[in-house]
Amino acid sequence: MGQKIQAVKGMNDLLPVEQKDFKLTAAFWQAFEDTVTRWARSYGYNQIRTPIVEQTGLFVRSIGEETDVVGKEMYTFADSNDSLSLSLRPEGTASCLRAVVEHNLLYNGPQKLWYMGPMFRRERPQKGRYRQFHQVGAEALGFEGPDIDAEIVAMSADLWNELGIRDHLVLEINSLGNREERAAHRAALVAYLGSHQDKLDEDSKRRLHTNPLRVLDSKNPDLQEICNKAPHLTEYLGEASRTHYAGFKAMLDGLGIAYVENPRLVRGLDYYNQTVFEWTTDKLGAQATVCGGGRYDGLIEELGGKPAPSIGFAMGVERLLLLVRDYGSLAYQAAPDVYAMHQGEGAALQAMKHAQTLRAAGFDVLQHAGSQSLKAQMKKADASGARFALIVAQNELSDGTVTLKDLQGTHGQTTLDAALLTSTLQQWKNA
Ligand code: HAM
Repeated sequence: MGQKIQAVKGMNDLLPVEQKDFKLTAAFWQAFEDTVTRWARSYGYNQIRTPIVEQTGLFVRSIGEETDVVGKEMYTFADSNDSLSLSLRPEGTASCLRAVVEHNLLYNGPQKLWYMGPMFRRERPQKGRYRQFHQVGAEALGFEGPDIDAEIVAMSADLWNELGIRDHLVLEINSLGNREERAAHRAALVAYLGSHQDKLDEDSKRRLHTNPLRVLDSKNPDLQEICNKAPHLTEYLGEASRTHYAGFKAMLDGLGIAYVENPRLVRGLDYYNQTVFEWTTDKLGAQATVCGGGRYDGLIEELGGKPAPSIGFAMGVERLLLLVRDYGSLAYQAAPDVYAMHQGEGAALQAMKHAQTLRAAGFDVLQHAGSQSLKAQMKKADASGARFALIVAQNELSDGTVTLKDLQGTHGQTTLDAALLTSTLQQWKNA
């Protein structure tokens, strides 16, 4: 026997059944995809699907070379037949914008786009943090806001409501201002942190000159006091940025969406400006952020397009679904409606024909394969979770009848003319 080969660390199989250390099933996931597809359509967003592999330069230019995502976590490799560097996408915004610019989609006016799919980051795996994970993201391109900023947040809140987890999520917001304001703040921050250099840890010392805002994100308890007293970006916001932020907050108030202002919310990707936000939960341990986003007004231009102010967000599907599974609600049907059983010469074929008829009428039918006693087949029918059993044995075959058994409800067992099969099951199902 050959040696078993295991999946790559931090990358999960999605199975029909729950696994010990990964509780999400494919049926649950699929139900979420259906919900998300309807939800995105209800807000007028069109789906976009881009390749999983892109030129590395796309992520370096958009997300930023100094970020953890690009600097440490990307799966990067050289294409074998030339010297092009390629990377598995670590997020969806850059690819989405690359496609929009490449295909000139903004020529027809602003675009509202959404996507879902796998993303790859070489992080240390733990519950809620994986190396292949999935995002659902939405991007509103060519809108100045702040109305669209509020709509984007309201849209995400709506999904939490639909999934029954709204009470377990807190909305944190901040404004990062524009480029000049951030530069002025950054200079003040570097000067401030520099004057406390001796108290900084190694990570923070490294970030001091590469990405000083990220120092404020440090989880090191010894640094909390220094971070708390650091200059706030809010103090450096000019009139236009303050007005934008105030307009955003007023819309949230008007929509009845509660938020916490967190002046230290900076996000881990470089492309943001003005409005940023995160939805966090206290139910998932360390991996608290379920969804994050914000404005990236300069990014499309940076990627070679005409200037187009834009905003978007992405949610981590695994995190979200772990939350929904334990605290929310998502209706889905994993079991078939009918288990089709048969016994004796010719009965399998007849059962298969009945199954086809039922499928054409919208029933999910699992057909028993192989020859076993009806008792053994009935056990399988129960184990499948099917609501009804359909039985074709010799009697049914010779009489042109079929036997139906209600496995979960009150209809009992009955033998009827095969012509009445569909209508009877429809009645049973709806009763
Ligand atoms: P992000 O904050 O890097 O933003 O990722 C968004 C979400 O993806 C996170 O809040 C988290 O739920 C999930 N996530 C990130 N890394 C992992 C991981 N290793 N395992 C499991 N889940 C993870 C972005 O990616 C931006 N593109 C969002 C955006 C769209 N901003 C504007 N438009």
